This record gives sequence, C-alpha cells and structure tokens, in this order.
Amino acid sequence: MLSRHNFTSTVAFNALSDHFNRIKKEQIRNLFEDTTRFEQFSITFGDILLDYSKNRITAETHELLVKLAEECELKEAIEAMFRGEKINETEDRAVLHTALRKPMNSGFNLEGKDILADIHRVLNKMEQFSDRVISGQWKGYTGKAIAHIVNIGIGGSDLGPVMVTEALKAYSNHIKLHFVSNVDGSHIVETLKELDPETTLFMIASKTFTTQETMANAYSARDWFLKSGAGEADVAKHFVAISTNEQGVSKFGIDTDNMFEFWDWVGGRYSLWSAIGLSISCGIGFANFKALLDGAHEADEHFRNTDFNKNIPVTLALLGIWYTNFFDAESQAILPYDQYMHRFAAYFQQGDMESNGKSTDRSGKAVNYQTGPVIWGEPGTNGQHAFYQLIHQGTKLIPCDFIAPAQTHNPIGNHHQLLLSNFFAQTEALMNGKSKNEVEAELKAAGKNAEEIEKLAPFKVFEGNRPTNSILIKKITPHTLGSLIAIYEHKIFVQGIIWNIFSFDQWGVELGKQLAGRILPELEDDKPVSGHDASTNGLINRYKVWRG
Ligand code: F6P
Repeated sequence: MLSRHNFTSTVAFNALSDHFNRIKKEQIRNLFEDTTRFEQFSITFGDILLDYSKNRITAETHELLVKLAEECELKEAIEAMFRGEKINETEDRAVLHTALRKPMNSGFNLEGKDILADIHRVLNKMEQFSDRVISGQWKGYTGKAIAHIVNIGIGGSDLGPVMVTEALKAYSNHIKLHFVSNVDGSHIVETLKELDPETTLFMIASKTFTTQETMANAYSARDWFLKSGAGEADVAKHFVAISTNEQGVSKFGIDTDNMFEFWDWVGGRYSLWSAIGLSISCGIGFANFKALLDGAHEADEHFRNTDFNKNIPVTLALLGIWYTNFFDAESQAILPYDQYMHRFAAYFQQGDMESNGKSTDRSGKAVNYQTGPVIWGEPGTNGQHAFYQLIHQGTKLIPCDFIAPAQTHNPIGNHHQLLLSNFFAQTEALMNGKSKNEVEAELKAAGKNAEEIEKLAPFKVFEGNRPTNSILIKKITPHTLGSLIAIYEHKIFVQGIIWNIFSFDQWGVELGKQLAGRILPELEDDKPVSGHDASTNGLINRYKVWRG
C-alpha cells in the first residue's frame, strides 16, 4: 500500500517554505556567477541531456526537494510499482506498463504468474502480424495487399500511437496510417473518403471494448466495409482488435485469433507499449517498435536505480512541484523544437492531466494544496509566433520544457541551425529578460530621442527570470523517444506520490460518460425535455428545434 501523508506537513516542506521566502527574488542569471552551475544542474543519460540550470533554484533548493521526495517515501513507492503491487487502489489494480518493456529473460512474476511470457507471446504475435502486413503477405478479401491501416480508438488507445508514429515518421514504411477517434461522424467520413475497402485494415483499439466513441466508429467502419460488396466472412481479413475484453471482441464479430490482448494492469494512457502499439509496429516495423520499448526500459532502469539527485524523472517532477506549490504556477508548457513531435504535448495532456488532475488524496480527503498543472504546448518555432508573448511578458509564471534534437532527419540548407538557434535563444531570453538600461541603450542606438525612449521603454522591458528546462537529444530515434516518453511517465508518477493522490484512475472522466448515456435516449424523439436544469433543458430543446 502506498503511504498516506500530507506533504505540506513534512519537515522538508516547511524547510522549503522558509527557503522559498529567502530565495524567491533571486535572479537565475545571477546564479550563473557560480561557474559550475551547468555541471551541477545537468544530467546526461545516454543520448539525452537534461539541463535544468535555468531554474529558480540553488543547491539548497535541490537538496530540500530531494529530502521532500524521501520523506514522502518515494523510493518505497517506486519499488511498489515495479514489484506489481496494486498501487491503483481505487481500481484494485497493479500498474505495470514498465513490465511491457522488460526483456524476455529478465524474470518477473505477478501473483505467481510469469507475465513476461504472456507479454512476449503477444509481442511475437505482433511481430509476425506486422511482418505479414508490411511484406504484403496479409491479403485483403480480393487478394490485394494492405496499403492503409485505420486505428479506431480514443484517449490512450489513440493518442500514444498517433504521437509516436508522427514523431517517428522518418522511420515509416509504405503502409499509410490513419487514426479515427472522435465520435463526430466527420472524423470517420473524411478518413474513409480516400480509402479503398479492398486494401484497408481496421484496428479496433479499446482496452474495455465498450467505449462509446470507439464502438460507434467501429460499427460505422464495418458498415462501410460490408457495403463495398464484402461479406461477413471477409471481416476477418480486414478487422483486428486490440483489447483486454475477449467477450466484447467476439460479440463485435472479430475472430479472437485476430485479437491482440493486453491486461488490466496496463492503464489506458500508459498502453502504447502494449498491443495498442500495433499500428506503430505496422507503420515503422516491429524492430523499431522494439527499440522504442528498449529505450523506455533503459529509462525505467535509470529511474529505479539512480540516486534522486541525478535522476531525470525525479528532478523534473520536483521542479514541477517547486513551481506549482511554491510559485503558484498553474500550467506547464512542453515545447518540442521538432516538427515530428507535434503531438507530444497533446499526448502528455492526457498522460499528466488524466493522471494528476485529482483533488482527493489517498486517504479520501480533499487536498488543501495544488496538484496537477495544465499541460499545453506546440512545436517551436510556431509557438513563438503564437503564445510566447505571454510566456515572456505576461503576468503568469509558466515553467517550460524545451526539447530539441541535435541531429535532424531532414538536413536541408541551414534549417536545423535556424531551428536550434531559436531553441537556444528562447531559454536564454526567458532567463535574462531585458533590463530598462538595456532597452534605453538599444532605443538610443536606434536614433530615438529622450521623449520617445521614455514612452517606449516600459513596453520593451522583459523582467526575465522565467524558468526553463532544456532537453537536448542527440537524435529522435525509436530508442531515444522511448526513453523520453518513459521519463515523462515517471515524472507524473513521482508528482502523484508526493501529492498523495492516486495517479492511475480517472473517475472524473466517468461522470461525463454516464451523463451522456442518460441524455442520449432523450434525443431520440422531438418531445421537449424538462428533467434537467434550465440551461441544459434550454439547450436540448433548441437543438431539437434546429436539428431539422
Ligand atoms: O478517457 C478515459 C479513458 O478511460 C482513458 O483512460 C482511456 O485511454 C480511454 O478512455 C479509452 O478507453 P478504452 O481503451 O477502454 O476504449
């Protein structure tokens, strides 16, 4: 069982509060008078460098944050997760996405069962299947090879494969991947418009195989397929399922031979490492999918075995807590300087916000402190021309993670240097800002007179001192991407442990699902409704008038 605590009552938290009052005005740029700061506050793990020296911290802050983690029994919690204890207590489940990336012979039993044998049995099945699809051996009902795969799933059964296959597009083969998630019919209609049923394979990805959006899209895909002239018997050649629910899969009409299983100890938003990654494996080849798992496994080992003061996920998590609970930061931006990683922030919106968007602690009591931040972001440099203004000069403190690869997959002209010059310049500018003196000198040099300078200067001053992490990666490969994703997963875990919340359930999502289920039958006829609040009644009734 995970510890129960209020982290704001720990010795370390109190020491941090005093320390915060002493150093909150410190300027990061002044802290660089210590010439060892970069060495002190950076960690290299394989081909990944985390530089966290541009944060509002001193050596003492770091030490106290590590003490906070220790006092909150983080070490014990990490072991409990890796051992397969049922740390997802409200769903009575173990949390073992880390086992999905363990090598076959590394030995692991869960309640007396060798689950690595199960995991690798499914991985072998995925390998064989992807090989057959990619080589063209897997034929559609008219004997043609598969050219398009449509993954139908939502949330964790969609976002991971989308993010990874986009991030690793440079490794893609001739199979074209499509993802349908939204129950809005436009999503599937637009996707199917360009497809040929004879060469299209559908992957119905749903842990529960009951999710409304996914089932609606799956049935529409099936109708579309059957309308092409194919018969029921042909469904087996064009539909596979990825699920923990064998009964649900059979009921839908998919042969369970074409089902790729995973297990209830894999959380939806942690499932891309399981059979949910089948579209990844088909799109970039199984060897690359395996490299992704290996990279994640290396990060697991780093997380489990490295001292907290040199541990990347722990460091990122503690910095997040520092800003959330002391500086009152409400959000965190993730800014990849890599176009292929354009869904990375969206992926961790679910990863982080569905995990740590909680206000009840592990004892069932309301928390009296802030928990999970709002996660957002877009790739640089597009973000620079959209929302960086607020990060630089707005009233909110937004800690940012800047991520960039040293090597590009597309070395044309000096594009990558242009990109990276922005990556380096932004964190420097956010830290240094621009003082009134600097602005005045600049305006003077531009030929402005004293009156103009006085008028303009206030708008051009940047206070700076905005904290950033820089994550420089040698190259975005399946291996490094796997490590990076696992690092962020573990960061979320660490924060959940310290905040004393359960990170692996998502009861908040359930309410919306239940209420939508209640309203759906009311939309079947044109009778006005009166059973809700006036706003909901009014909206439903207007919809009934306007829907035509
Ligand atoms: O959004 C809620 C959620 O339960 C996620 O945790 C999950 O990833 C998603 O729905 C999809 O669920 P399923 O894979 O069961 O269709």
